[in-house]
Amino acid sequence: MNLYEIINKRRSVRKFTDEKIPEEIMKKCMSSSLLAANSSNLQPWEFYWIKNPDKKKQIVKACFSQSAARTAREIVVSVSRIDTWRRNRDLIVANFKHQEKFLPIVDKYYNKIIPLIYFNDKLGLSCMLRSICSVLINIIGIFKPVPRGPYTKSQLFESVTKTTALACQNFMMTLVAEGYDSCPMEGFDEKRVKKILGLNHNCHVVMIFGIGKADQNGIYYNRFRIDDKLVIKTI
Ligand SMILES: Cc1cc2nc3c(=O)[nH]c(=O)nc-3n(C[C@H](O)[C@H](O)[C@H](O)COP(=O)(O)O)c2cc1C
Repeated sequence: MNLYEIINKRRSVRKFTDEKIPEEIMKKCMSSSLLAANSSNLQPWEFYWIKNPDKKKQIVKACFSQSAARTAREIVVSVSRIDTWRRNRDLIVANFKHQEKFLPIVDKYYNKIIPLIYFNDKLGLSCMLRSICSVLINIIGIFKPVPRGPYTKSQLFESVTKTTALACQNFMMTLVAEGYDSCPMEGFDEKRVKKILGLNHNCHVVMIFGIGKADQNGIYYNRFRIDDKLVIKTI
């Protein structure tokens, strides 16, 4: 299948067969998700493959026992994080140094600008300070283009979640390329999912995937998309 055929073949499947997915295919699909484009290459994602039967049961329940979760052969939870930037930044910098490509601009970007954007403390003081600075930035913005965030914790979450969603798409595409199906879900109780996985307030559960081989009744409806003209604009 070429890429267009893979994109076209992917559907949200809500009923799966019992067919097992080989471990190496699951690993390949999860690894391919990590190749997604991502902001500043900070890779703020995590993918939890739920293998423990008890935890799987709990996750299914937290997904309101919807069919896509209940019948799934495998379940993967995608998570975005606002607290891994420092570790990942250090790894990126080390890699630049290893390749002898640690230019002053790279140093400035990762060691000065990135902390300014991503640093956030428990009390939210850094976010508050950034929000206060944003008033000044908005005034400067009247005269010239300026970066307008992220300033707040929720804007940071928006940024890392945007990036993680791209990885999620890679994941679903690779599953199709390997002959398997999935259903992305945001119908779950996030608080419970975080508790099951031991995740803290710096994490956001982006999507939960039910994965397997589509049952013959696994696709509920014919695909429907609103007219291109309503959403693709040429100006
Ligand atoms: C972020 C996100 C959340 C979704 N949540 C659910 C869900 O909780 N349950 C479900 O059955 N489908 C869920 N879906 C699947 C959508 O309903 C589906 O993608 C949409 O109807 C289009 O159908 P298609 O994926 O087959 O093209 C979700 C999809 C996305 C991208």
